[in-house]
This record gives sequence, structure tokens and C-alpha cells, in this order.
Amino acid sequence: MRLKESLLCFFITSICFSTALSQQSAETAISLNTIKLRLKVDQDGRPFYSVYYKGKTVIQPSRLGFIIDSSIRLDSNFQVMKTDSMTIDETWKPVWGEVSQIRNHYKQLAVYLQQKSAPNLSLALLFRVFEDGIAFRYEFSVQPKLKYFIVSNEETEFNLTGDHKAFWIPGDFDSNEYLYTTSKLSEVDAWKLPMLSFGNKAENIPDQNAVQTPLMMKTAEGLYINIHEAALVNYTSMQLHVNKAKHGLIASLVPDTYGNKAYLHAPAKTPWRTIIISDKATDILASKMILNLNEPSAIQNTSWIKPMKFVGVWWEMQTGISSWNYTDNPDIVTRDGKMIPNGRHGANTTNVKRYIDFAAKNGIKGVLVEGWNTGWESWFGNWYGQHFDFVTPYPDFDISEIEKYSKQRGVQMIMHNETSADAGTYYKQMDTAFKVMNKYGYNSVKTGYVGRIIPRGEHHDGQWMINHYVASAQKAADHKVMIDMHEPVRPTGLHRTWPNFLASEASRGNEWNAFSEGSPPEHEVILPFTRLMGGPMDYTPGIFKMKNYAKDAPQRQMHTTLAKQLALYITIYSPLQMVADLPENYEPHIDAFQFIKDVAVDWDDTKVIEAEPGDYITLARKEKGAGNWFIGAITDENSRVASVPLAFLDKEKKYIATIYADEDNADWKSNPEAYKIDKFVVDGKSVLKLKLANGGGAAVSIMPATGEQLKGVKAYK
Ligand code: NOJ
Ligand code: CA
Repeated sequence: MRLKESLLCFFITSICFSTALSQQSAETAISLNTIKLRLKVDQDGRPFYSVYYKGKTVIQPSRLGFIIDSSIRLDSNFQVMKTDSMTIDETWKPVWGEVSQIRNHYKQLAVYLQQKSAPNLSLALLFRVFEDGIAFRYEFSVQPKLKYFIVSNEETEFNLTGDHKAFWIPGDFDSNEYLYTTSKLSEVDAWKLPMLSFGNKAENIPDQNAVQTPLMMKTAEGLYINIHEAALVNYTSMQLHVNKAKHGLIASLVPDTYGNKAYLHAPAKTPWRTIIISDKATDILASKMILNLNEPSAIQNTSWIKPMKFVGVWWEMQTGISSWNYTDNPDIVTRDGKMIPNGRHGANTTNVKRYIDFAAKNGIKGVLVEGWNTGWESWFGNWYGQHFDFVTPYPDFDISEIEKYSKQRGVQMIMHNETSADAGTYYKQMDTAFKVMNKYGYNSVKTGYVGRIIPRGEHHDGQWMINHYVASAQKAADHKVMIDMHEPVRPTGLHRTWPNFLASEASRGNEWNAFSEGSPPEHEVILPFTRLMGGPMDYTPGIFKMKNYAKDAPQRQMHTTLAKQLALYITIYSPLQMVADLPENYEPHIDAFQFIKDVAVDWDDTKVIEAEPGDYITLARKEKGAGNWFIGAITDENSRVASVPLAFLDKEKKYIATIYADEDNADWKSNPEAYKIDKFVVDGKSVLKLKLANGGGAAVSIMPATGEQLKGVKAYK
């Protein structure tokens, strides 16, 4: 052992390998509070890690490593050359978020491995133990025999201790817009539902035993385990293959058309593999580990980044009332075609002005317009590409007039760039498209990738597209544009690095209730434990007309009550939050609409009051820079009473709570629009009891009040 390393061991004895480095196997451990990580390199030079919570095993010894360039093993024959450790305890402030300050507290162990014989490659393992779990990543240094290389397989294992209950969606390479299945891991069958992906052919069929992350699990003993990844940059996304016989999960990377997983150039590093662990489900939702593992903001001046609510010329297309396209002629693919209006084009100047007026009247900042640009005649279902130029409006959309009209009313227009999954062409068009946004005063864009990816053979969740999403966030930032991506890979906390990347869809949104038979009431009590672990979601809440909205399918209905739609503004976090229904559908319920007008989109604090994946979630959030609190409580198909102690309120103050609750006879299926609104005086000692109907919810706004304001308002009992 060299002097430097022995000194290190002297000072940080707990992390030093317990046997001399020259010997055959070695072992070390680090821990922080209830979480412990153990690393062992066995006699064959194979690294294994294991994880413990409160002294009990959570992850059994699990292998680490790779196969690179088809056949080179980078998973064995290692010896430990050096270890390093450090402890970090810092706080940082996100540009926007669920809380205004985040504590980043971890112990890090770096283990430098070197192969004992040919090919003599080295590999570094970086572990971080947090108070709520562990994370690790691999680092490849530049070596004579390792410069440009292909990751053929990542062999990371997560060996569990039993056949846990899991909330999973299939390991599709191109879509995450699935309903969740709740089952034991041994019952996973990714082919149970038809695959949604557009691009998968025989050579690339997703694995029947693979699921996507974030994977939420619960053990028979009541321990909650969530596995995902953080900082997915220049790599492909990780799915998990379930080894049913061994209760094991193995990294299963999304391939390209050649079956290769990632093309790397050393020095290189993988994303972090994350395991969040707690015996309280509320801790899973409160975890900030994934954000902490991402790099700080790459944008210096962030003053132009502003969370907002928005309405949109959108639901009317989803429900078939109007159309994105201007003509009914599918052969018109460019602006040069002869265009005969179909009379149903939603993005016409008059209709857009109606939404601008509605937004201005109700203090909603943004207006999204889809279908403003040429190309919608052909965009869907053709693997052809080049449908859109993102520059040319349809003849009935006067972009200059809309700019003037919206500016006069203090409303912010939101651009829409549906790429039809032709990301290759979009990459070349982006600068032009962002210049159009700058010219006409659009400060944000909703992008979309519906269909099979072009370049053909790439997947939505593969490395090529991962780089594309990051590049689009970066280019948007160059033009001071905020971005909301639809149909991208699920998020991994990159919004810390790119705070202009406000939201993404990357899951089954509310829109499925418009164009399909929809998602059952449990969907929204699973999403925060799965999809939302990686970042905010543009779920598009706020539908008030619960039945009979789909033009050609009158039997369709929302799978929530109206009050639950309000609660989603709190339980599904997004700094870009849609007010999704048509203006005319809010009018009959203008009293309930008040909650949407009042609710904030950026927060100083968040309290996870109660939660159980698949069953219920109750959150309270404090508006950024204001004393107001907002509560959202939601349930699955079962009614329940949410209990909310208001201990987080300022002890010295009185508040008025406005409770938007399900009526006693409300029910998502038979009576979804029945709600009641009550006002009470509350303080830090009050405990709200919120009765939620089957498939129901409750939303509460709590605002500080004094003197006159309190008169005539009854105390909460
Ligand atoms: C799918 C998106 O999720 C939806 O919001 C959008 O309206 C359509 N694509 C068209 O771009
Ligand atoms: Ca979508």
C-alpha cells in the first residue's frame, strides 16, 4: 500500500478494505443512519454490492460490470487499486420546485478496480449512501485499450430478498404510456397488454420479463423500495429484467437497431443507478436523491424561467370536437399544397382569441395552441417524416395578430412543435423553430414525438434520442425558451441541470380519457411513486365535464370526481400546469374553478401527509414567497377519509380554509360532478377530515386571514 492510501485508511478506517489489496478478495462497507452499503470483490475479481436498511438486507450481493465490444468482460478479474471516501452535507436552492431548499447529504466511496491480466482494463465504481437510499455509477477512464467502445451489456444486478409486490409497466423501448399492473415480481408479463410501441420489429422485440423504471416495490414486511436512475446523459435508458427464479432484477439496456446499447468515448460515465428505501411510503415521495445526483444548473441567468399555468387549444382536438389539420386531404404534406378548409380547424385566430380572453380574465398566464402550423394532414402513423417546418402557419392562424392580441392582454403564448418522431429532421430545424418563437414572443415550447423514430431503427428510450432530448433542452436554453416534452424517455432529474426543462409527459396522461376508454382511478395514486420520481409531469389536469365530452364516443367518462381533478394540481407536480378543459366547461362550475385560479405552481415547501402506492396520497404545499398553503388528497376506487393535521401552519396566525370536497353522494362513475365548497377558520391545531368518494379527492386552499376577513366564517370542528 502506498503512503497516500495508508494515510487515507488511517483517517477513514471504516471505508478501508479489510484485507490487503494484494490478497485475493476484499470487502468494505459504508453507512449513513439506517442505510448501509457493503462492497466485496470475490476471489475471481468480481465486484458485488449489497444494501441494508435498519440492519436488514434489502439488496443481496449483486454483480456489477459490463460486456463491452461484444465480448470483452469488464465484470471480473479485478483487484482493488485504491479507494477514496468523503462526506458531503450541503443545501442548495432549485430555480423552482416542490421545496425551496434541498439538503444533499451523503457519504461517497470510490473504488478503483484494475484487471489482473489481459485486457488489463480499469473501471471505477462510485457509490453514494444517502439517508434514504443508495446510488452508484460506473466511470471509465481513458486507457490505451479503452477509448471508443460499445457497451454491449450492462450486468448490474439488484438481487432482492423476496417476491415483492411491484407497480410496473412493460419494458417497451418506445412508449411509457401504459396502465400500471400491480403484481408480484414473479407474475410480471410484459406482453400481457398489447405493446404500444410503434417501432419494434422482430429483431428488437422487448423482453417479456422486462419492466421500466422507476420501479416501485413493497416487501411483505412493509418496506418500500424504488429503483430508477439519475442523470441519464449520453447513455441509453435502463429497464429491468426480472429473474423470477432468483427474485433478481438485472439491468436491461434499451438497444439500437444493431442491438448495441451505448457508444462511449472515454472518459465516460454511466447514469446513477438509484435505490430509494424506507419503511414509510411518504419518504419515497419526499426523496430528493435523484435531483441531488444531477449536476447543478448549466444555465447561469435563470431569471427568464417562470413556472405558470396554461390553457390550450387542445382538449377540443383530443375529444374530436375540432381538428389539428386544416384540410381533410391527407396528401397535403407541405405548405405548397392546395388547402381546402375542413371547417373544424381548432387553431383559427378567432378561436385562439377566445382562449386568450379566458386566460386573461382568470389570471392564467399561458395559452398553448396546437395545430397552428402546416403538416397535420399527414403527420400520424406514417413513418415518412418531414411533415412539419415549424415556421408556416395555416392560412387561418394569424401569428402576428395573435402576438399583438396576447401581448395586449398580458398573456404568454406557448409554441407547439409536434415532430411526428422525426427527431433527425427536427434537430436540424430547431434553431429556425426557436427563432420563430423568439420573433413572435413565445417563451416556451411543447415538443412531441408521436410515432416511430426517424432516424429509423432508433428508439425513444435509446442513446440517440437521449442525446436528442438533452440537446433540445440545451438549444431551447440558448434561445431562452422553456420546454415541455411529450413522448420522451421518462425523466431522471435533469431539470436540475436544465431548469428550462420544466416538464414532460413520458407517461399515460389525462388525455387517454379522451381518446380511449381511459385510466382507472388508481392510476393517479401510482404515478407519483413511479413516473414522477424522475421529475414533473405534464398530466393536464382540470377536466370539469366528466361525461359525454368525446364527440364520437359518448360512453367515455373521466375516472375521477371533479374534486379529484382539483386535487391533482397538488398531487401531480408540474411547474407548467395545464388548465385542460374547454372554457365553456368551466363556466357551470365557476365556484370550483376558483381553486384552479388560486393554486400555485411553485413551492417553498411540501409535506407528504399520507401515502400508499396504488391507494391514496395526501400532500400539502406552501406557495413560493407567500403564506398560502394548498392541500390535495386523492384516493383510488375506494372511498376514504384523509386526515390532515395543520401543524405546518404558522402558530401565531389564523387562516381561512376553503375546502372543495366530494358531495356525500359523489362517485367517480355514477355522480362525478357532485362537489361542495365550505369555508372555515383554521389554525395550526386544526385537523382536517376530508371525505373522499370512490375515485374521489379533495382540494383545500388555506390563506392567512385577520380581523374583518374572519368575521362570519365558522371555526373548523
Ligand atoms: C400527443 C401528446 O401527448 C398530445 O398532448 C398532443 O396533443 C398530440 N400528441 C399531438 O401532438
Ligand atoms: Ca402522449
